[in-house]
Amino acid sequence: MAEAVASHPSCVLGLATGSTPLQVYSELCRRHREDGLSFGDVTTFNLDEYLGLKVGHPQSYRHFMQTQLFDQVDIDIPRTHFPDVHADDVQQASEHYEHQLSESGGIDLQLLGIGTNGHIGFNEPGTTLESLTRVVDLAPSTIRSNTRFFESAEQVPRQAITMGIASILRAKKVVLLATGAAKAAAVAGAIQGPITADNPASYLQSHADVLFVLDEPAAAQL
Ligand code: GLP
Repeated sequence: MAEAVASHPSCVLGLATGSTPLQVYSELCRRHREDGLSFGDVTTFNLDEYLGLKVGHPQSYRHFMQTQLFDQVDIDIPRTHFPDVHADDVQQASEHYEHQLSESGGIDLQLLGIGTNGHIGFNEPGTTLESLTRVVDLAPSTIRSNTRFFESAEQVPRQAITMGIASILRAKKVVLLATGAAKAAAVAGAIQGPITADNPASYLQSHADVLFVLDEPAAAQL
């Protein structure tokens, strides 16, 4: 990702949250600190954002990106985009996000994590290939997995706005990161299984330029 920024300073990055990309963001911060890598002309679009959390909530994805990356580099905050989960009309806000994505000229490099159920962004099992940015209900397994970031399961939001599968597949290049044995089945299904709504990451098989970066436990079922 640092190379993408270094070689194309006005690139458009698609960003992911969760614990998996933390090392990527700390490496980008290091490259800024030590090598002067500039983010001044970079545009970013985050994949998703929870609905129902107050502005500045520590578990909001905007807050995550601020602390892990934006506050530590020279990024121009107006160029950082999240779905507007505080809009009166969240459906319209989702359509606006999709519009902003196309107006930007498209994502050059999309970073992804993967849920244990194969979700990418918050595109849960059952999502269609044609899906665009929209309001979604989180799967019970996602609520359970993400409870670790909250004080209790009750506090985990039940909904989010997420970029859709079609929005993600329009990126020029996609890099999916996965670590740990809990992701092994989802990773194997995504790479070697059929293209199916049961494992939304399997839709990546229809993209021409996808790189999976896995540790051994995550690759164990390949
Ligand atoms: C979250 C995010 C995803 C992320 C996934 C995995 O629910 N919406 O974008 O890829 O879960 O998270 P982690 O990297 O913490 O396992």
